[in-house]
Amino acid sequence: MQKNLAERGKKVVSPVLGRYFPEFEIEKSKGCHLFGTDGKKYLDFSSGIAACSTGYAHPKIVAAAAKQLRKLIHICIGIANYEPYIVLAEKLSKVVPIKSAQFFFCQSGSEAVEAAIKLAKYAQKKPGIVALRGAFHGRTLGALSVTTSKMKYRDGYEPLLPEVYIVEPVLDEIEKIFASKSIAAIIIELIFGEGGYITLHQEFVQKLRVLCGQYNVLLIVDEVQTGFGRSGKWFACEHYNLVPAILCLAKGMASGFPLGGIAAGAELMTKWPPGAHGSTFGGNPVCCAAGIATVEVIQKEKLVQNSVKLGAYLKKKLSALQTKYSQLIKEVRGKGLMLGVDFQDADKVKKIMNYCLAHGLVLISTGGDGTVIRFIPPLIVTKKQIDAGLKIFEAALNNAQLH
Ligand SMILES: Cc1ncc(COP(=O)(O)O)c(C=O)c1O
Repeated sequence: MQKNLAERGKKVVSPVLGRYFPEFEIEKSKGCHLFGTDGKKYLDFSSGIAACSTGYAHPKIVAAAAKQLRKLIHICIGIANYEPYIVLAEKLSKVVPIKSAQFFFCQSGSEAVEAAIKLAKYAQKKPGIVALRGAFHGRTLGALSVTTSKMKYRDGYEPLLPEVYIVEPVLDEIEKIFASKSIAAIIIELIFGEGGYITLHQEFVQKLRVLCGQYNVLLIVDEVQTGFGRSGKWFACEHYNLVPAILCLAKGMASGFPLGGIAAGAELMTKWPPGAHGSTFGGNPVCCAAGIATVEVIQKEKLVQNSVKLGAYLKKKLSALQTKYSQLIKEVRGKGLMLGVDFQDADKVKKIMNYCLAHGLVLISTGGDGTVIRFIPPLIVTKKQIDAGLKIFEAALNNAQLH
């Protein structure tokens, strides 16, 4: 087994990458567990940042990807139609909250946001994009232009896209911009992922939808993190009875394979002609095969239901810990298996994360200043695993209280 990865990486890996655990090295994974190069087994409640929805190395995902590897690794949809691209789009059209949905596939969440912004601008023939302050939509330059969860993401890169308006989630402010500028779309996260697992209010979302209709502004919903059962519904839109104009997808879509995409109704997609956008690797056959298997596993193993059931169980347990450790924990929030524990204290959060790692539990932080610990286990997680994780987490709380 190759060791000293962290040390060797210091010479050859760009220092630009932010790391939760710079010294942590793993060799392999299975189910809800990671296996370290130190021979230790770790219970993982990070899911590779909410990507490994069906857990690690699910046999059905592995089999589907391996089968596709032998058949066709790559051709590009620009050259030929191939089954996984089409079948994945057909399958997704049955689960997304958009009627007659059509899909464009790419490789990441940021690219999905890029595609959504490009489709909106192109179809609307208007330049403006509105985004909510505190949201995260990715790090490529277009996606970064609508990202403000941490201002340090933008430092050194300004000026970004022109005609982007960052607003507080306040309807009057949004309406002022809709009325005075030429706005193609507004992009929102229903649960702010990197922004600390803060959920938008029902009333705000319903009124925003009406405003969008009034001013002919497309509503882009970024479900890169919330999608595929994470929030306790296939898509968080369902909590709001919301039909977005454009839906951004990635992360949980292919169980860890790099796949992203957007969905929009056929009427809107038809306004985006051949060549107006594209990608060499987007919708890669192996990634799409993993995506198809992911949708099937989520359905067959009732993982959305598991997200609801075990999410409620975990939230109840975390809320009890909040009562017990009220001087440490300020709030427990989120939906499904996308829960945040707010400490309002970045040092404590770091201490707790490091303690948990040292005792075999992987937990990562979120929030603009890293003051929230997020619980995003694979959707296959069991009650026993949640209990085992909570035992380590409570020991970490005790330890944080003492030091
Ligand atoms: C809501 C949301 N949008 C976009 C992105 C960017 O996705 P990626 O890192 O795959 O580019 C993320 C990633 O965390 C996200 O949470």
